[in-house]
Amino acid sequence: MSGRFIVFEGGEGVGKSTQSRMLAEALRGRGIEVVTTREPGGTRGAEAIRALLLATDGPGFGARAEALLFAAARSDHVETLIRPALARGAWVVCDRYLDSSRAYQGGGSGLEDADILTLHRIGSAGLLPDCTVLLTLDPTEAAARVMQRDAGALDRIGGRAADYHARVAAAFQRFADAEPARFAVMEAEGAPEEVHARVLAAVEHLCAS
Ligand code: TYD
Repeated sequence: MSGRFIVFEGGEGVGKSTQSRMLAEALRGRGIEVVTTREPGGTRGAEAIRALLLATDGPGFGARAEALLFAAARSDHVETLIRPALARGAWVVCDRYLDSSRAYQGGGSGLEDADILTLHRIGSAGLLPDCTVLLTLDPTEAAARVMQRDAGALDRIGGRAADYHARVAAAFQRFADAEPARFAVMEAEGAPEEVHARVLAAVEHLCAS
């Protein structure tokens, strides 16, 4: 039997990594093998690409090179970690995935969604999650959480202007509206336990199928 693939998406500071961890623990409590991972990164090669993408020194990359690098990191991640885990029946809980490329390099930086999907087809044979949990949060609250977490040390992409991040948020919402069966959109407002309860309710159907 093949496992299930669950992804957390959303802007900076919405609590994706906390919720990934909490969901993984809850699933393990039910006797499920769970692999937690993140993007960009998750494998040695992809973590090396992550360091290139997020470094704040040097000139960085243009939007197209950036999209190719994210797709290359994802390709390695999917081929060497995600697909093998799913094939042996494990569940994979991933912090960010394809929809981040569509929202940031597409919505934020202006690349065509079709081009990003083409890169994903080439790099990862188009693998999609069974469920994408989109966490939404008021931008002021999200900025406060990021400030608390990183003490203001933003990476190259997180540090982009507010209007860039507003386009990213709008793009995520558009994708969720267009594919309601794949997305579960939920407020990241409130204590982590409250959000976790919403997440569990949203992925419950995957346990039964
Ligand atoms: P991450 O470490 O998850 O940031 P945070 O914890 O602040 O949410 O991701 C690093 C940055 O990379 C983040 O600003 C989003 C960006 N990103 C893209 O632009 N495209 C992508 O495909 C992915 C996976 C991430």
